[in-house]
Amino acid sequence: MEIISDITETQDRCLATRASGQTIAFVPTMGFLHDGHLSLLREGRKRGDLLVLSIFVNPTQFGQGEDLDHYPRDFERDESLARAAGVDLIFYPSAEAIYPAGYATYVTVEGPLTTTLEGACRPTHFRGVTTVVAKLFSIVQPHVALFGRKDHQQLAVIRRMSADLNLPVDIVGMPIVREVDGLAMSSRNVYLSPAERQQALVLSQALDRGRQLVADGVREVAEVLAALHAMIDAQQDARIDYLLICHQATLREQERIDADSVLLLAVSIGKTRLIDNGSLLNPQDF
Ligand code: PAJ
Repeated sequence: MEIISDITETQDRCLATRASGQTIAFVPTMGFLHDGHLSLLREGRKRGDLLVLSIFVNPTQFGQGEDLDHYPRDFERDESLARAAGVDLIFYPSAEAIYPAGYATYVTVEGPLTTTLEGACRPTHFRGVTTVVAKLFSIVQPHVALFGRKDHQQLAVIRRMSADLNLPVDIVGMPIVREVDGLAMSSRNVYLSPAERQQALVLSQALDRGRQLVADGVREVAEVLAALHAMIDAQQDARIDYLLICHQATLREQERIDADSVLLLAVSIGKTRLIDNGSLLNPQDF
């Protein structure tokens, strides 16, 4: 397994791979790998001759007062997990290399896809995500890139960017990997105290309850949301950022639940902000 920090060296390596007729599968991450990331790497291993993992805590997607400085990092551990997952190349750039002095170019997806949900709470977040992912695609030149449905809105935004910019990359969405008790895996789960970790279960429990109501025949969005609001508010340290039912592709809010409905929620447990989501009528989808 190679570890390369230099941008030109990585790009040359990837361009040569493409030129030789081999395919490149790419998994971009911010590191502190967990089983969710590893599921993307396992799928990527099947889909490309060269499997590239990037580890870069991207400053432009963090807002003022967010956890950029405290974001968990452990490169040595990531390195051994990546090796075991069959990664061929870790791209591990510095912030100065990605955003050198004088850097002035940003990629922005406009409209409701980026202004609702996460975008409403974190107005500069998706601009940072699309900018870094566009740059990473340009460096790594992947045929296929894998993203988790844990970040449903991020996946929708990246699909939009790739289609709009005619990027020659196949975007693959992967199922959410959960702890045995249901909590969606996240690098940020390490911030939770034992008491908060227990309360954090309310996100996946709300999703299950929503699915149960829909399975029982409820189709009114307002009725489902009222029940889930009450459930989450009952947790002492939980504060809802958003709890919405939207069309899975457009992310427009719905009044009635149908096959395309997805429940999206962001809840702060103490100081830790967690997200989760899932299809309501077709839980097998994600
Ligand atoms: P990060 O949070 O490290 O996540 C990297 C990838 O892993 C994303 O596609 C995310 O959706 C996926 N992922 C995280 N938790 C998951 C889980 N429990 N199950 C399945 N997949 C999961 O998302 C980012 O980094 C950044 O925004 C990035 C795209 C790298 C741009 O900086």
